[in-house]
Amino acid sequence: MEAETAAIENYMSENRLFEPSEAFKRQALVLDNAMYDRAQVDYLEFWKNQANELITWFEPFSEVCQWELPFSRWFLGGKLNVSYNCLDRHVEAGNGDRVAYYWEGEPGDVKTVTYSDLLGEVCRFANALKSLGVARGDRVAIYMPMIIELPVAMLACTRIGAAHSVVFGGFSSEALAGRINDAQAKVVITADGGFRRGAKIALKANVDVALDECPSVEKVVVARRTDTEVTMVDGRDIWWHDIMDRQSSSCDPEPMDSEDLLYLLYTSGTTAKPKGIMHTTGGYLTQVAFTHKYVFDLKADRDVYWCAADIGWVTGHSYILYGPLTNGATSVIYEGTPDFPDKDRWWDIIERYKVTILYTAPTAIRTFMKWGEKYPAGHDLSSLRLLGSVGEPINPEAWVWYFTHIGQERCPVVDTWWQTETGAIMISALPGVTKLKPGSATFALPGISVEVVDDNGAKIEKGGGYLTIVRPWPAMLRGIYGDPERYRETYWSRFDGRYFAGDGAKVDDDGYLWLLGRVDDVMNVSGHRISTTEVESALVDHPSVAEAAVVGANDPTTGQAIIGFVTLKAGQVQSTEKGEELRSHVAKVIGAIARPKTIIFTDELPKTRSGKIMRRLLADVANGRSLGDTTTLADPGVVEEIRVKALTSAGDD
Ligand code: WTA
Repeated sequence: MEAETAAIENYMSENRLFEPSEAFKRQALVLDNAMYDRAQVDYLEFWKNQANELITWFEPFSEVCQWELPFSRWFLGGKLNVSYNCLDRHVEAGNGDRVAYYWEGEPGDVKTVTYSDLLGEVCRFANALKSLGVARGDRVAIYMPMIIELPVAMLACTRIGAAHSVVFGGFSSEALAGRINDAQAKVVITADGGFRRGAKIALKANVDVALDECPSVEKVVVARRTDTEVTMVDGRDIWWHDIMDRQSSSCDPEPMDSEDLLYLLYTSGTTAKPKGIMHTTGGYLTQVAFTHKYVFDLKADRDVYWCAADIGWVTGHSYILYGPLTNGATSVIYEGTPDFPDKDRWWDIIERYKVTILYTAPTAIRTFMKWGEKYPAGHDLSSLRLLGSVGEPINPEAWVWYFTHIGQERCPVVDTWWQTETGAIMISALPGVTKLKPGSATFALPGISVEVVDDNGAKIEKGGGYLTIVRPWPAMLRGIYGDPERYRETYWSRFDGRYFAGDGAKVDDDGYLWLLGRVDDVMNVSGHRISTTEVESALVDHPSVAEAAVVGANDPTTGQAIIGFVTLKAGQVQSTEKGEELRSHVAKVIGAIARPKTIIFTDELPKTRSGKIMRRLLADVANGRSLGDTTTLADPGVVEEIRVKALTSAGDD
């Protein structure tokens, strides 16, 4: 396809290939393409087999999938319970003493929780919920730090058939109230506070403010974590330890229908109102278990797996709770930030627990790059055998750094593309078979069918376009809570018969998929569409750059102009010369068309608490407009700084 006609042009090519090593292959679960071939022949049969192999059903399903575009139903008639699959069956199989979680608090306190321990706690809390009047079909809001009570609360909901709605602890009380009201939650589970970079973050106080506007909430359960003083409202608020004291540690798991609501997870869209993404039981569990097992090449009895995300995001739901527990894995959960008490906390954790699989995000990797390789180099990371990445496109430089300094050139890096809406990983290498290209998420997994299309929705065999999914998949969202029309409009209206993910993607000469960022992050410069991700990748490719975010700003001549926000590595000096060097570097790597008009240096980039760079805010800065709502910022001070920098470096062309 000619560059002129491609929907999104891609100028950068990365040709390094990394084959799985012989040592890795010797122990890998998947060594050839047989699984892809089977799924190709009959994807429904493929998923049927996965559902039967990976999940324990109380009653078997009678039909694999009903598909009435855009609504799908999976494993119809099947009855199961998620907590039973995550806990009881492992205990019944004699693995009750296996560690489910090595939990580590930020201050250094630790807990080792076996499958038997976790089952007991979950049953007790399930009974506690029942005693508070929570019944099958109710919604429960959860607003907690990364303490062990969080997975206990989620699993207890699944045990009795209530749907949870976990709201990330970094959200404001307004955001919490909006989500509670949309879900009409009956109970809120929270904690007095949580630890973050040595400080105590209040949570219960935010709940109190939120609940002024939430008439549906009858009870609040409060776990103690920080010993922060809290106000307990009589008749409404109960301490976790008080209510748990009174409960029996046995509670029968509720047999749920495969299509019963498992949870809601709110995610932001283009309007101010967040979308309550709905996930159901059987299909979701099947795909998270399948992907967790094969993408991470899991040996449940040997691996120590660590997904370093927050449970408040979908990555934590699928790959800290439901995938690993369904597979009977041993995981690490770490409560705090990576730089407390020092910048080597993660490498210390990996060394002490002998972590074998690490799953994290490019933004974290680039932060570690910025801090320097001496931090990982000071620890024994020889237990690691596989690395994963999720959340945004990983630029080749970060990929290679991760591979070299963390994986010590021994561990494959699986770049996993998926979304809150997809529920589970959709595009990723299988580490025993796929030849890796740094920066490419490689191929759709077996049973998943993605296509890149042009502006008119025609499939593109090679070149850039829009990422779409053409067949239903088991973990797909079942809709937006209370708003089926918005579901249809948001995901299914842009291209006829296709789920549109909102991401740009490219297929290269070898058929590899390259994610190019959200299409609303695509710039149009002099009629050329350029992905912000590509320019960022080129900037980060420069040895002085730690992190970069690129946005398009309105430009009277070229439509949009490319503005790069850049954080330099320690020891590098911000200067006009350095800016010029970076602009030339991008021109060299991608082409003159992509030369940023302006480089703005900043000590930190504004990020959401989940680590995504707030490009819209940066675009606002670049366009000189007001900053708008910044409540989801990790550090609000950054905003002011960026604004000041923007003012002082504007027009540096
Ligand atoms: C982006 C996170 C490139 C993408 C699981 C997607 C990625 C959005 C990748 C979903 C990846 C996630 N490569 N981009 N490996 N993983 N994304 O809902 O733009 O928080 O649409 O789910 O993150 O973000 P969400």
